[in-house]
Amino acid sequence: MTEPTNPSPIHRPRRLRRSPAIRQAVQDTLIPVGGLVYPLFVADLGQPKPVASMPGVSQLPVDTAIQTIKDLSRDGLKQFILFGVTPGSKKDAQGSYAADPDAPANRVLQAVRDAGLDVVMHADLCFCEYTDHGHCGVLHDDAKQGGAVVDNDATLINLGKTAAAQASFGADVIAPSGMIDGMVGAIRGALDNAGHPKAAILSYAIKYASSFYGPFRDAGEGGMAFGDRRGYQMDFRRSREWRTELRADLEQGADMVMVKPAMAYLDIIRGVRDNCEVPVAAYHVSGEYAMLHAAAEKGWLDLKETALESTYAIRRAGADLIVTYFAPQLLKWLS
Ligand code: PBG
Repeated sequence: MTEPTNPSPIHRPRRLRRSPAIRQAVQDTLIPVGGLVYPLFVADLGQPKPVASMPGVSQLPVDTAIQTIKDLSRDGLKQFILFGVTPGSKKDAQGSYAADPDAPANRVLQAVRDAGLDVVMHADLCFCEYTDHGHCGVLHDDAKQGGAVVDNDATLINLGKTAAAQASFGADVIAPSGMIDGMVGAIRGALDNAGHPKAAILSYAIKYASSFYGPFRDAGEGGMAFGDRRGYQMDFRRSREWRTELRADLEQGADMVMVKPAMAYLDIIRGVRDNCEVPVAAYHVSGEYAMLHAAAEKGWLDLKETALESTYAIRRAGADLIVTYFAPQLLKWLS
């Protein structure tokens, strides 16, 4: 029998894991509730309509969305990002309904502004939920033959107009998510020209063409009639391109930048955090939410523990703002 060898007395990390109190004492990653952003899908509906692939998420009628914002903001959740669900009859080739004061998301913006709530309202700015073809902008004439699909510069004009409309309805932050080159500069110019210098821009600067958006396309009814988004969203096989996107958006005046999705891109979040001074957001997307729910429903994972672990990982990677469908639950779990 060999004698057990004692580890060196200076290498005993377990000293600081001995009790809940000591573990909490040395915790260095905290999730500020003020940094959570809750996505809401707003539709012209009589009552909430659950999204099958996103348990706990529903398309909300305008009144319910307003009430949800009032209730949650009282409990400390202060940031919301709105997505509008558009009936087929209102969709067209340009997505013009996005700027319509009667569109559900825009009605919510106006109501929240009129109620004077102390919240931050982000308006997602993209056309995929508003176009009849489901792409994020105006199409090239030869789009169906493949290629780049979305006409970049024609879309910039529409982005500027729509951003100005959203700001006029009361959006505090315009969040363009279409990955159109030059979008931040075009939007900044349009906002300033229209008299909205105070509206901030949170650019979805670094957004990958991801299959993790699948459930969102059910929720927002923004699937594509043909093709995919690889002609404008980023290719996840390129590891350095985020630097180009980040630099471009900062030069054009982005107030904050987003990385999306989150869990499969923690390295990118860390890179962005270390290479800029503006607040960095990360979007824990629909598919990342759905997979935890699906496994939890089967009894394979614990929903609360895995959702918390995921959110801490995103925070630890460097995200200041976290866009997450778990926001209302996190509010309870973190208090
Ligand atoms: C619209 C948009 C998408 C998401 C946010 N804004 C979908 C897409 O780009 O296809 C995805 C969000 C999620 O999956 O939770 N451009």
